[in-house]
Amino acid sequence: MSAPDAPARPMTARAAGPLSGTAEVPGDKSVSHRALILGALAVGETRVTGLLEGQDVLDTAAAMRAFGAGVARLGPGEWRVHGVGTGGFAEPEDVIDCGNSGTGVRLIMGAMATTPIAATFTGDASLRRRPMGRVTEPLALFGARAWGRRGGRLPLTLVGAAEPVPVRYALPVPSAQVKSAVLLAGLNAPGETVVIEAEPTRDHTERMLAGFGAALRIETLPEGRAIALTGQPELAPQRVAVPRDPSSAAFPVAAALIVPGSAIRVPGVSRNPTRDGLYRTLVEMGADIAFETPREEGGEPVADLAVRFTGALRGVEVPPERAASMIDEYPVLAAVAAFAEGATVMRGIRELRVKESDRIDAMARGLEACGVAVEEGPDMLTVHGRGADGVPGGARVATRLDHRIAMSFLVLGMAARAPVGVDDAGPVATSFPGFADLLRGLGADLAEG
Ligand code: S3P
Repeated sequence: MSAPDAPARPMTARAAGPLSGTAEVPGDKSVSHRALILGALAVGETRVTGLLEGQDVLDTAAAMRAFGAGVARLGPGEWRVHGVGTGGFAEPEDVIDCGNSGTGVRLIMGAMATTPIAATFTGDASLRRRPMGRVTEPLALFGARAWGRRGGRLPLTLVGAAEPVPVRYALPVPSAQVKSAVLLAGLNAPGETVVIEAEPTRDHTERMLAGFGAALRIETLPEGRAIALTGQPELAPQRVAVPRDPSSAAFPVAAALIVPGSAIRVPGVSRNPTRDGLYRTLVEMGADIAFETPREEGGEPVADLAVRFTGALRGVEVPPERAASMIDEYPVLAAVAAFAEGATVMRGIRELRVKESDRIDAMARGLEACGVAVEEGPDMLTVHGRGADGVPGGARVATRLDHRIAMSFLVLGMAARAPVGVDDAGPVATSFPGFADLLRGLGADLAEG
């Protein structure tokens, strides 16, 4: 839910002793949204454990109720979803407010686009700035119609197709949200809907659709990876165990890599290969991260991470083809890169400009304010590392309604020479409720104000 009047919650991180202990990070945000949406489209009762109870996912839960599904919280992370079946969504009585969540709004638009109902979507000031044309354009091919503000911005009304047709769509941008919106729309179109992605993006929708019993074929074509979905399946309700979020795990992991003497464990983190780019990059930088007891949980590979400070991180060139597998992790990588020896060069990251904030600009300005030199281009960011104890800090950074910008600078402040504050840690609750307490439990010094 968007809360434009919520008072800002400034927070400050100061260097403290080594971090130690176990960091049980929350459930995966991408998997949590999908579990609720596919649960709502199945026939019968889906049970979810480990659901992320961040505001983004709670907004998706409220939206599924508004479309007619029964959604109930049974206990911490434990939810029941009573689905209405593909094509069974009812018309919501009021505006659907997706708060801060691009994933929520884009996936839900896809899920309703082939049902003959109308819905109006909005969100907070950050979400209302983000492009929706990337979703409404392919949804129009199914026969859905959208009226939004200039540039397809929210608030936007979508009228689902009464007689949807299947679609063959090559993604013009590497986006799992767009891919997922098209696949979810394809669920209620007769025949086969095909999405082709030139660069592989996170594959949770495909995995979960298969788990719910949809017929999917995945092929490698010269143009890329093609996912063909047979429309109008009856989805069977499932038990979904949500793994812990590698994008949230990234924050305590990064903190342990830059705070001298640290050694922490982060159990049960998803090791989905479409999400592991940050971890590959950190290992290339010289980080000491062990991936212990690899196993499968809820259709996703997971492992326990054991992370140790070495003080010997080196800057690296991050290959552009890795971008999709770590798209949410560039802000925290930039914070870690400030403590490395030499430059870390990140290219092919244009998509960061249309996230919860323009993350290239937010990181560049914040790092400069903290005494770290950067070079910025339309599609790239270079961070000139200052070594393990060389980051000055001593700034208050603008969060810009972006949870990952807030968490990245708080992590940076845990090892900088002078405290680093953010003007508003409120947005952290969209993806990582309990972030500050969890980091404090490991030994970090995080104070309100
Ligand atoms: C997500 C996809 C990514 C990512 C977002 C979650 C998803 O966005 O940034 O946090 O769950 O599908 P794009 O698909 O727009 O790259």
